[in-house]
Amino acid sequence: MDKVTRRKFLGGATLAAAGTAMGPWVLRAGAQSGPIKIGVVLPYSGVYAVLGESITQAMELVFAREGWTVAGRKIELIKEDDEMQPPVGVRKTEKLIDSDKVDILTGPVHSGILMGMRDKVHNSKTILIVSNAGADAISRERCSKWIFRTSFSNWQPCQPMGDWVAKNVSKDVFLTAPNYQAGKDMMNAFKETFVPAGGKVVAEDYPKLGETDYAPYLTKIRQSGAKAVFAFYSGTDAVNFVKQFDQFGLKQSIKLTGAGFLTEPDVLPAQGKSALGVITGHFYTPLLDNATNHRFVKEFRDKYFGKMPDGFACQGYDTAEVILRALKAVNGNTQDKDKLVDAITKVEFDSPRGRFRFDPKTHNVIQPFIYVREVREVYGGLNNVPIDKVANVADPGTGCTLPA
Ligand code: PHB
Repeated sequence: MDKVTRRKFLGGATLAAAGTAMGPWVLRAGAQSGPIKIGVVLPYSGVYAVLGESITQAMELVFAREGWTVAGRKIELIKEDDEMQPPVGVRKTEKLIDSDKVDILTGPVHSGILMGMRDKVHNSKTILIVSNAGADAISRERCSKWIFRTSFSNWQPCQPMGDWVAKNVSKDVFLTAPNYQAGKDMMNAFKETFVPAGGKVVAEDYPKLGETDYAPYLTKIRQSGAKAVFAFYSGTDAVNFVKQFDQFGLKQSIKLTGAGFLTEPDVLPAQGKSALGVITGHFYTPLLDNATNHRFVKEFRDKYFGKMPDGFACQGYDTAEVILRALKAVNGNTQDKDKLVDAITKVEFDSPRGRFRFDPKTHNVIQPFIYVREVREVYGGLNNVPIDKVANVADPGTGCTLPA
């Protein structure tokens, strides 16, 4: 035995002896007494920066309520800006997993970033609680035992809208969304029920994510003869699209409908009256009449200077609730990952959106309701007023067999 090896060997023996003297329970408790590290990969800049901010604010509201402690361990958030760039999001994910050694990851907002993160998360057996990005594939052929989603699959807010728009608005519809995975997923989901209900897709158009001048696209919409538009835009894209749609004079003759992100409270104040009358599908509106939502809206507005919580904030709230409840169920033990995955799967609670539960088949949230909402001027401002709803909307989960 050479010297170095012998020293190492003795060091190991000393540690082992100390462990025995203290009792194995001391070591176990020690190993689990450090902070719970939660890695956050969200956009804090770019088109979707307001979404990242809302998710973070609501998570922080819930963790603050618990004194930033769960099962005797401190909660530590390590926040990283993915800058809305898939390579940046993937690099930050690797840093959080490999260097920071986070216990749980959450984020991202952008479907392309989620797809880029997926293999790193899956292969390193890191628990990821998706707090926005809706990429359908993550609940389908690319699902993973380690990935849960508290937000939505892109299919969920749009599939029920196809049938609804065909029956209640028009059968001649123009589809438009940014040219990336979420846009494609959402328009496909809409078509799934729109076409069987007798709807005709007059045309489709996919401007780049982050487009600022929609004039060429609005010209095509005007010339298409469509009676309605179904659109997905979010963040600053939603502000620009909805305002320019109105400024272009299309509002009088063409009904604007879409995925709920188009008129969420994060963008409504900037859209102003241009958003009036827009009809969208979403799992949440701050107007929901349940006790958890009343408390959430009040506490969120008190803490964030009157800001109205949006669906993204609801997702942040639910992500924090899932983390807290699962960690309590396993007494703060983040080392037994199988047990933690089991505990997360079983979490159920009253969320601002209604009863929250995961679909055990996909690890994606089952939406208690998808609301059809219309922007109206009520309660002293612009609000998404529910006018219809569809219950228990679960992603079909085609091609997902868990554990995968
Ligand atoms: C997505 O990329 O999955 C995404 C982004 C913004 C939204 C919804 C979905 O509002």
